[in-house]
Amino acid sequence: MEDIFTTEEQLEKAVMVGVWFGKKDESNLNLEGSLEELAFLAETAGIEVVGEITQNLIHPNPKTYIGSGKVEELKLLVEELEADIVLFDDELSPRHQRELEKVFGNKTKVIDRTALILDIFAQHADTSEGKLQVELAQLNYRLPRLTRAWTHLTRQAGGGGGRTGSVGGVGLRGPGEMQLETDRREIQKRITKLEDELEKVRDRRARHRKQRKKINIPVVALVGYTNAGKSTLLNSLSDSQIYVADQLFATLDPTIRQLQLPGGTEVLLSDTVGFIQKLPTHLVAAFRATLEEINEADLLLHIVDASHEHFHEQSVAVLETLKEIEAGEVPILTVYNKVDLLNDELLTTLEKRMDEHTFLISARTGFGVASLLEAIADVLFRGQSVVKVLLPYHEGQLVSIFHERGNVINVEHLEEGILMYGRLPRETLPYYKDYIQ
Ligand code: GTP
Repeated sequence: MEDIFTTEEQLEKAVMVGVWFGKKDESNLNLEGSLEELAFLAETAGIEVVGEITQNLIHPNPKTYIGSGKVEELKLLVEELEADIVLFDDELSPRHQRELEKVFGNKTKVIDRTALILDIFAQHADTSEGKLQVELAQLNYRLPRLTRAWTHLTRQAGGGGGRTGSVGGVGLRGPGEMQLETDRREIQKRITKLEDELEKVRDRRARHRKQRKKINIPVVALVGYTNAGKSTLLNSLSDSQIYVADQLFATLDPTIRQLQLPGGTEVLLSDTVGFIQKLPTHLVAAFRATLEEINEADLLLHIVDASHEHFHEQSVAVLETLKEIEAGEVPILTVYNKVDLLNDELLTTLEKRMDEHTFLISARTGFGVASLLEAIADVLFRGQSVVKVLLPYHEGQLVSIFHERGNVINVEHLEEGILMYGRLPRETLPYYKDYIQ
């Protein structure tokens, strides 16, 4: 998939457009946070934000999303700042996109947050699975825009011509109708193929999960807003080196590592894609295979960047996405990370919020990590006892129960029976009492 933004030496310049839909006198703090984040997204994609424009609306304008007066204001600003891109903070419908392209013509690209996020994902997808997922999301996003956005461009350009530029069908010249029809069919075919391939990925993952379940290794999944520090924590916990960068979405592909908890039990720790506000629905759908790792986990560690000004909003966005992917039932420990960056006042406020499910850590310095590990062991193995039993071969059922309900750390097949070492739920201990070693 080609990238949206050319990587020429000179950065492309963008003017951001943000809308808030509250009452006029209500604070638009959310909008500020959202635009700040959009600017960070733009920077991650290699775009320089040179200006912004905001509007308070009851409903989006059916044609141009923002009102006509605001469009004029935006046009002037774009000219004045010599911007190449107008960057909308919300997802534009195909109609909005088409109307705005009419206004801005061929010189200025109209891009929305979704297209930007998809582009960043495309730049960061490493594994074949990640690439498949991103390509599917991009094509699904483009398909409806391809038709409509290109219709007027075709008329303008008189048909024919190659395709240049790519965001959401923001081609500078449109192809002719026939070409358009062919493109559309090709995209549809590619979507079907990608969906088939991703279905295979899902099956493979489901099989792996089943195997993990069989051997009963608990899975702990790290979730959190993008840039919260998930990969850094995974690195420091499992002594591995995963790509860490002060960028959004540095990790796109789930990474699974083995981790030893206090007491010796092994668990699997999986890093997942970073969440973000207004995570495009196409993306959530395409990343289903990856996200399923989350709702099948035994425990979630919700990593929050406590040093971020809007950490509360970020953590709400994460919890909402978890609900959306039906992972709301998995137990969660909330982990406030980057405490090394907090001032005393903030630290004290946070400390007051601590309870048995909330932790303060610094993945960078290691502060608080030991107690977090103990808490993980405690949640995963609460109500379990460590036992060593020698089960005669005719007690096959007890062997199965140990596997299904306990956590087997070690098994040895001896002449007189099976020697099993691991954790068992306390209520099952009476069945094993004759065999305890
Ligand atoms: P995505 O890949 O976007 O989901 O990000 P992530 O959650 O995996 O974040 P990552 O581990 O890549 O960290 C993001 C940035 O925060 C990096 O620059 C890290 O070095 C920094 N960081 C992570 N943890 C800490 C911490 O405890 N203290 C400080 N000061 N910086 C941290």
